[in-house]
Amino acid sequence: MTDLARWLSAQTQDDTLAGVILSMAGAGAEIAGVLQQAPIAGQTGPAGATNVQGEAQKALDIISNDIVLNHLRQNPHVSILVSEELDEAVEMSSQGGFIVATDPLDGSSNLDVNVTVGTIFSVLPAAGGPLQAGRVQCAAGYVAYGPATSLVVRIAGDTSVFTLDGAGTWRLTLAAARVPEATGEFAINTARERFWDAATRGYVHESVAGETGAAGKRYNMRWVGSMVADIHRILMRGGIFLYPLDSETAAKGGRLRLLYEANPMAWLMEGAGGRSSTGRQDILDVAPTAIHQRVPVILGSAEEVRRVEDWYRRG
Ligand code: AHG
Ligand code: MN
Ligand code: MN
Ligand code: MN
Repeated sequence: MTDLARWLSAQTQDDTLAGVILSMAGAGAEIAGVLQQAPIAGQTGPAGATNVQGEAQKALDIISNDIVLNHLRQNPHVSILVSEELDEAVEMSSQGGFIVATDPLDGSSNLDVNVTVGTIFSVLPAAGGPLQAGRVQCAAGYVAYGPATSLVVRIAGDTSVFTLDGAGTWRLTLAAARVPEATGEFAINTARERFWDAATRGYVHESVAGETGAAGKRYNMRWVGSMVADIHRILMRGGIFLYPLDSETAAKGGRLRLLYEANPMAWLMEGAGGRSSTGRQDILDVAPTAIHQRVPVILGSAEEVRRVEDWYRRG
């Protein structure tokens, strides 16, 4: 029995849930192979189409979406698929017990510069439909296509990390990820400062002031521009990721998507002792009203997320 299969059998008695995770892991392994050859195959460019998000789709956005569709269509336990790249939710199996929401290729603006990208997925109980709060997720995970190909997954317990070996097997490389409570590293797109609200501005300025300011400690800054890459760094060594509400994204509710970016990452963070917030409420408590709904995302080291929430409480 492989590491992933053994881990799944220890984490859940529900073989159908385990099967959905295995389907997404299979899709990830296939996407990894495609990405590694993409520059040779000339696939790193635009698709010439625009998705429901209003983004210019990359060819690999569509290829990755098709690979996820193919793997999930072979699984009778998936009732609905919600995807960043599909305008509407897709009906899959009529007897499926689970809904999958996916960002088939996250960070795709980085494809032509060979930076880590990923596939993110959230698994919900089918009974409540796609618009359920993240708190009720059955599982969540992502595949990070980096120097190594990592699968990060959580059902209800620990958030664990697997690495794809040369034979295409997922090997357990970290049984329980733990996000350090405190951090000195923040991740935000500082080019957006002119759009920030007072809370974001206050927090970032206090952090940049380092030991000379109220924070009383030195900070470092990292921003990859690929959520999976930034989150994986935070999951492995701590940090805080911020894509907060700002004056430009406010009309849409934020930049990042609730069902297939914020909720799965919040679920994984919770499993590793991290914290997730919109700034004003726990991301996992946000009640979705639309499948492509956007939310502000602040997540990572719990003490640091609380520091940002304190800035929001100051009004
Ligand atoms: P996607 O490629 O799935 O559309 O997601 C891109 C997101 C996320 O990965 C990243 O954190 C964010 O876009 C970066 O936004 P900026 O380009 O505004 O920094
Ligand atoms: Mn996109
Ligand atoms: Mn994304
Ligand atoms: Mn995407």
